Amino acid sequence: MKDNIDLIIFGAQGDLSRRKLFPALYRLDKAGLLPDNLRIASVARHDMTTVTYLKQIMEAIQDGIKDAEWDRKVWMRFQRRVYYIKIDFSQKKQFGYLADWMEKNRRAIFYLATPPDLYGSICKHMEGSGCIFEGTSVVLEKPIGHDLISSKEVNDAVGKYFDEKDVYRIDHYLGKETVQNLLALRFANRIISSQWDNTCIDHIQITAAETLGIEGRWSYYDKVGQLRDMFQNHLLQLLCMVAMEPPNSLSSNEIRAEKIKLLRALRPIGIDKVDEYVVRGQYSNGWIDGKPVVGYLEEEGAEKSSSNSETFVAIKVEIDNWRWAGVPFYMRTGKRMNAKHTEIVIVYKDTSHSIFSGKKEDSSNKLVIRLQPNEGIELEMVSKRHSLRERLSTEKRVLNLDFNELESDKRIVDAYELLFLELIKGDQRLFVSREEIESSWDWCDQIIEAWNKNKSETRKYSAGSGGPAKAEVLIEGDGRSWHGQ
Ligand code: BG6
Repeated sequence: MKDNIDLIIFGAQGDLSRRKLFPALYRLDKAGLLPDNLRIASVARHDMTTVTYLKQIMEAIQDGIKDAEWDRKVWMRFQRRVYYIKIDFSQKKQFGYLADWMEKNRRAIFYLATPPDLYGSICKHMEGSGCIFEGTSVVLEKPIGHDLISSKEVNDAVGKYFDEKDVYRIDHYLGKETVQNLLALRFANRIISSQWDNTCIDHIQITAAETLGIEGRWSYYDKVGQLRDMFQNHLLQLLCMVAMEPPNSLSSNEIRAEKIKLLRALRPIGIDKVDEYVVRGQYSNGWIDGKPVVGYLEEEGAEKSSSNSETFVAIKVEIDNWRWAGVPFYMRTGKRMNAKHTEIVIVYKDTSHSIFSGKKEDSSNKLVIRLQPNEGIELEMVSKRHSLRERLSTEKRVLNLDFNELESDKRIVDAYELLFLELIKGDQRLFVSREEIESSWDWCDQIIEAWNKNKSETRKYSAGSGGPAKAEVLIEGDGRSWHGQ
């Protein structure tokens, strides 16, 4: 692999570049993890000099990190890496500026942080201007399409110019330290791996709740909804990490192969099942952190007074394979919920025969994997109650592995830092393959089609609540309940 690397960021003035990409690159430089010879070309269509651009980027980095992380010396070093190149993406001729800047003896990584409908034409113009050669690769941000057909179109458009081995599709959840830790938890602990199937596990819950609303993205979001924005990618990737078979090794091919097998084993949810297995919700006004917030239809930029688009979705997912037969996965994600938290809860079966008295809910073990915030793992154990009156009764106690406490001198790294490191290394393990994306769309498309045919109801929930009441029914109907409720 060539040692000299050029990172070329298209959409360098966009929100993602400012909020995530540049703070992550600065932190890596500060940690001494960026190769000395890495150059960064920031490509956008605005007319400005590198000096003006650097001023903006400095502010963006300062906003994105803690005050104590700012180090002027690091910034002086970092800014020397950055060049601003003005290109109007619709003008093929202007890609010549980039070609002039690039050097063929350096490895180049094109990071497309632009709307996905530009991916194909950017690649075409790069090819036409001689920017693509041996040793160039491309990074694609989500969304890759809005259904199977459009995702194939995006993948085909990029695939004309780049081999699959050179395409890095980002799902930033895969870069989260705690999501990676699922691999260690599952495959480096005999005590866990030996109990990870339908003989021991009753069901699994996956929740990704946000207090944020749609953050000024109404017209985009209304076409998309939460199933496409969060479930098709992040939630299904979490499901893969929890439920895939053990890969033979940690190589990207082995991990991807297991994820694809899992995605193919998801039981389809068609028109006959959609209203029983899927709950669709939309927030109305309410309170978050003691402050009033407006409903989805009153958000800034709302273009309609009624809309079916969901800001919440809960799905009972079933997996048709040996390991998970009979184990439902209850999965939910929503905006404007009561707290920001992403967690996976493994609920174990009760002991086969109870010799202790006491309430039933006290008798099952739960493994709670907190992905964000307060990253950690809790194991709910049943233990004897210390009581002279109730001498042989039991109660739940918690073994708590709190990563923030354990690593108090270190911060949990941001997903983009890890993703950049893997990119520089040229390892696709944390990136999503074409087949994974297409298998996930294939499954989600059936739900969307069933919603449309069935005219499935989008149920209101108050901002700041736990989602629509029907989501409780989804799990309670099976005699179970959401963790923490
Ligand atoms: C993005 C979605 O992919 O993930 C956003 O488009 C969502 O709508 C965000 O807010 C959530 O990411 P995180 O890392 O804050 O859980």
